[in-house]
Amino acid sequence: QHDLVSVSDLSEADVLHKIRLAQLFQAGKTVTLQRPTYAMNLFFENSTRTHTSFEMAERRLGMQVLQFVADGSSVTKGETLSDTVKTLQAIGVDVAVIRHPENQYYQPLLAEQLDISIVNGGDGSGQHPSQSLLDMMTIYQEFCTFRDLKITIVGDLSHSRVARSNMALLQRLGAQVSFAGPEQWYNADFERYGQYTTIDDAVNSADVVMLLRVQKERLGTELDDFDAARYHREFGLTKARYQRLKPEAIIMHPAPVNRGIEIDSSLVEQPQSRIFKQMENGVFMRMAILTDVLVAKGLINPAEIKGA
Ligand code: CP
Repeated sequence: QHDLVSVSDLSEADVLHKIRLAQLFQAGKTVTLQRPTYAMNLFFENSTRTHTSFEMAERRLGMQVLQFVADGSSVTKGETLSDTVKTLQAIGVDVAVIRHPENQYYQPLLAEQLDISIVNGGDGSGQHPSQSLLDMMTIYQEFCTFRDLKITIVGDLSHSRVARSNMALLQRLGAQVSFAGPEQWYNADFERYGQYTTIDDAVNSADVVMLLRVQKERLGTELDDFDAARYHREFGLTKARYQRLKPEAIIMHPAPVNRGIEIDSSLVEQPQSRIFKQMENGVFMRMAILTDVLVAKGLINPAEIKGA
């Protein structure tokens, strides 16, 4: 694919291919670029993991990374995202990784059929495809399948692009998805992906407990009534709930973690937590994503990824 903006076009075979390729990179695989290749990471929302791991992935692939600072760019003078991206294309940037607060910011860019590739680093409460794929890699490394795994996504479902990408992809891959958390953050749209349950029921049988960050920056006036201690008690992974997990179950969280809210702080580094493993996998999955983009652009020879 020349662009990657959503998980909606990814088949099971696409996901398994990306996992295999990411695992090859994890084992030390390198690729050769056909010419100097330039990446720019345009983050209009804050990020530590996605921004840094895309930059690490770009550098490990041998790409040149040009710096972009949203506050220092001409976007502050009113330049549109479309004109910004077309400017970067004219200057010679090959791949733009973009995080933006607006849902589906990428649609007008795709409609223009630009040569520059767009990789979505997260759009509002829409999609977070690279996070979703690194999550799939983390689950697959653990269980070697998705089929019939019981996966409960817990927490701030309505504001979470991670949840939206993961519920769709996990269902496509044959997992049994369920949801827990405050009822006001669950909506009828999610019913087609899985049932609503409680975290107390979920921890007894789940293979994966996928916690979501409470996105305080998106809560608006709801934040005035938000009680962190009550949330932790009613919906969080407490030490008592952790004790009831199956021994082979894993805990995931896209991070950043609100320690003591979604999860007891002492559990973040416990043996069943894969939270830092997810971050480690993120670099290799982003190398795989960028490689597929560069193969589609003719900048990496397809023979280099044969077998993945
Ligand atoms: N998981 C995630 O997207 O983290 P960042 O916001 O730090 O990129």
